[in-house]
Amino acid sequence: LGNGLAKTPQMGWNSWNFFGCNINEKVIKETADALISTGLAKLGYNYVNIDDCWSEPSRDSEGQLIPDPKTFPSGIKALADYVHSEGLKLGIYSDAGAFTCQKRPGSLQHEYDDAVLFASWGVDYLKYDNCFNLGIDPEERYPPMRDAINATGRTIFYSLCEWGVNDPALWAGKIGNSWRTTNDINDSWASMTEIVDINDKWAAYAGPGGWNDPDMLEVGNGGMTYQEYRAHFSIWALMKSPLLIGCDVRNMSAETFEILSNEEVIAVNQDHLGVQGRKIFAYGPDGCYQIWAGPLSGQRLVVALWNRCSKTATITAKWPSLGLESSISVSVRDLWKHEFVSQNSKSSFSARVDAHACEMYIFTPTMETHSAT
Ligand code: DGJ
Repeated sequence: LGNGLAKTPQMGWNSWNFFGCNINEKVIKETADALISTGLAKLGYNYVNIDDCWSEPSRDSEGQLIPDPKTFPSGIKALADYVHSEGLKLGIYSDAGAFTCQKRPGSLQHEYDDAVLFASWGVDYLKYDNCFNLGIDPEERYPPMRDAINATGRTIFYSLCEWGVNDPALWAGKIGNSWRTTNDINDSWASMTEIVDINDKWAAYAGPGGWNDPDMLEVGNGGMTYQEYRAHFSIWALMKSPLLIGCDVRNMSAETFEILSNEEVIAVNQDHLGVQGRKIFAYGPDGCYQIWAGPLSGQRLVVALWNRCSKTATITAKWPSLGLESSISVSVRDLWKHEFVSQNSKSSFSARVDAHACEMYIFTPTMETHSAT
C-alpha cells in the first residue's frame, strides 16, 4: 500500500471478540489504561480498536456518521485525544457496504465523507468490514476507501476485513496494510486450527507493508486450554499475523498475561525480516505432529513443534525439512521456557510435546563443521 505503516504486523486490542456490541467509551478508556498499567503497551500493543456498534443506526441530516450518544456521549475525537495522551493510537470500524454487520450505516458510497470525518477525529486505524456489500466485488469496494484515506493526508492503517473473499492475498497488497484470509475466528480449538491452515496457504504474499490476517486473538476468552492458547499465540506470531488482543485486558488472568506478554514470542512476530513462517512438515496420525518454521533476521530460524494430536508425543524436526545444511549446528532457545535447551544441535532436534501444545524455539547457527569452499 505504501503508506509507510505495517513494517511489522500491527499489535493492539480490539473490542469485538470479548465485548461484541456491548461497548462504550468507559470500556475503551479503561482498556487503554490497562494496556499501559499492565505493561502491554510497552511491549508493542499500541492500537486500541473500536469495532462494530459505536455509531448511531442512521446518519445525521447532513449524511454524517454520529457516535451513539448513549454509549459514546463524549464523541470519538475525545476518545482519540484520550488514548493519544497515553501514547496509544485509536482505531475505528466501518463497512464496505450499505450497513455494518450489526446494521449501523456502512461507508459504501460515503468513502470520502467518512474518511474526512475519521481523520478529523484523529483516528489512526480503520478496520473495514464486508457486510451488506450489494454483491459488488471486494476488489471494487475496498480501493475507494484507500483513496479517500490517502486524500485526507492523515496516515491511517487500513485493515481490510473481507473474510478471505476472492483470495485477497492475490490483490489486497496494493490496497490495505492487512487483509483477512478467513471467516471469523471463534474461541475454540477447532476454529483456531482451521483458520491457521487456511492462512498458511497465503504465506508467500505477506511481507513488510501488508500482512495476512487470520483474525484477532481469542487468548483469555475461556474457550481453549492454557496450552491451546499458547499454541494460538505462538503460531500467530510465527505466521506474522496481526497480534490484536481480543479479551478483557482489565481482568486478565496471570496465565493470559503470561502468554500475551511473552517478549521472545512477540519479537518473532515483529522481526524486521517479515517472512511468514509456514507448516513445513507434518507426520503421524492425520499429520498431527507438525513442524512450523520460518526465517528470522540474522540467519536465525523460528521453529515450532506443534502436537495437534490428543496424546503427548515426541516430535522431531530434521535439518533437511528445515532447509538447513547437514553440516550446520545450532543453538536452540526455548521461547516459552526462556532458556537455551541446546548449545549444539546437529542434524535434528526433538522434544516431548503435550497434546495440543506448541513448543517454540529459535535456532541460531553456531558453526559449520567444514567450510563451504
Ligand atoms: C465481522 C468481522 O469479521 C468481525 O471481526 C467483526 O468486526 C464483526 N463483523 C462485527 O459485526
